[in-house]
This record gives sequence, C-alpha cells and structure tokens, in this order.
Amino acid sequence: MTARIIDGKQVASKVHEEVAAGVAELREQHGSVPGLTVVLIGDDPASHSYVKGKERACEKVGIRTDTIRHDASITQEELIGIVERLNADPEVNGILVQLPLPKHLDEAAVIHAIDPLKDVDGLHPENAGLLILGQPRFAPATPLGVQRMLVEENVDMNGARVVIVGRSKLVGMPLAALLLQKGPGANATVTVCHTGTKDIGAETRRADVLIAAAGFPGTVTADMVKPGAVVIDVGVSRVEDSTRKRGYRLTGDVDFEEALEVASAITPVPGGVGPMTIAMLLVNVLQAAKLAAAN
Ligand code: GUN
Repeated sequence: MTARIIDGKQVASKVHEEVAAGVAELREQHGSVPGLTVVLIGDDPASHSYVKGKERACEKVGIRTDTIRHDASITQEELIGIVERLNADPEVNGILVQLPLPKHLDEAAVIHAIDPLKDVDGLHPENAGLLILGQPRFAPATPLGVQRMLVEENVDMNGARVVIVGRSKLVGMPLAALLLQKGPGANATVTVCHTGTKDIGAETRRADVLIAAAGFPGTVTADMVKPGAVVIDVGVSRVEDSTRKRGYRLTGDVDFEEALEVASAITPVPGGVGPMTIAMLLVNVLQAAKLAAAN
C-alpha cells in the first residue's frame, strides 16, 4: 500500500479563503480590520522564517500585521512593557510572542502578561484552562491545524484511537485536549507518549491516527505505524544538506519514505502541518477581532 499524501497547502488555501471572506464581512459590518502584532526576540533563523510566513499570510487575507523585533539583549521588564502596550492598543486584536524566547527571559511570565482576549496563540493559562474545561476560546494554531486537516480528510475521529508522541505546551498537550472534546472532529480516545513512556512503539502500533510531535527526526519509524493508519507529522527540523543551496533541508519526525508504504494517508514535511499552523493563526486573529467588535 502506498499512502495518500495529505496536501497541507491545499487545505490551508481553503482556510485562507474563508478567513478573507470573514475579514471582508467584518469590515462591512463594523468598519474594522483585524490586526496581529508579532513580537520577535533574538536572531533564531527558524523563528525569523516562521514570522515571515505569518506576515505574508496576513497580508494575503487582509489582516493588518506588524512585527516588533528586538535583539536578545532585551530585559524581562522591557518585554513585559511591550506586551502591556499592545494589550492597551485597540488597533491590536492579536498578540503573538514568537517562541522560544532567549534563555534569560521567563516565557511563562511573558505569556501570562498577554490579555487573554488577544492571546491568539491560546497559551495563556485562562485559554488553556477553557480548552481543558471543554469551552475553547483560543486553542493553539498547530493543534487546530491538525484537527482541521483530519476533518478535511474525512477521518472519522469519533472513537478513533489517537496516539500523540510529544507533550509540549504548543502541540501535544493542547492537541490531546482538543481531540478529547465531545463533538465533531474529536471525541477520540487519546494517548500521549513522552520521554517517560516505557514502550512507545507498543502504543503507536495501536493508533488509527498517529501524530508525531516530538521535534526529533527519526522518532517514528515505519515499524511503529499500524498498517492503514493516518500519520500526521508535526515535527520540523533543519538537517544539514550540502546538496541544497541553503545548506540544510527540513525534515519531520517520521521516516517518511518508509511510513508511506504502511500508512493509508500521511502528511509531508514541508507542505503538511506547517501551512495549516499559519492558516489557523489567521482564524484565531479573525475571531479575536470579532470578539473586540462585539464588545
Ligand atoms: N514557535 C513555533 N511555533 C510557534 C507558535 O505556534 N506560536 C509561537 N508563539 N511560537 C512558536
């Protein structure tokens, strides 16, 4: 069996169209244009590249976007000051502090300082708590993107055995909470594997839907995939490749070529989950703007 390749760019472009229509409707009804401000600290090349992608996508769908860039010398107080200024600015509907932050900064305290109604990353404890309680407001964009892809692929999630490899606060944990919700595109039986899991392969081989979100190439080998499973690869790592002009290539957590022969459907890296993360961020920004317009 050779798996169907799930095209994240195609699903993302459908989401972009929906957001563009929502932005136009908001402008007509309330005269307001959604605005996202990204805060980017330091010079991590991957973060700079993600932020460029976010800016481009916002422009495409009519969302105003601005990026505040600062070198890694910024203090905690200065960064909190930037967040507080954005909280008070009515033109800013969504605030995204790009992670990871340089080591001397307290990531949790910075996220805590964001107005929960502008937390389009869904990382503020209030939004994380609402998700766990089954009353989602903003869920993180990558989990939302994974869920939307599964829905678009017509994967029946109701009662499906889902195994997630990785328990990060950006992906594994919120994705588990999202897929556990009662309702369409969810209601799954979810297992989360992590560094303390005794036999990860024994868990993943039971998965109807296997989601790799560990951030390490080679985490999921073909023998860990149940024949016919749907495999979603969230990992994005840069590995050296002298044959490429940039000197590196992007790779996921899954041994793609081998898993392709076992799974029924699989996402590629790049071109799978990545475009969906950006698309669902746009959805969250539009939602934040609608919340602001209603208040
Ligand atoms: N770094 C990698 N992915 C993300 C994301 O979705 N949000 C933020 N804030 N930082 C990230």
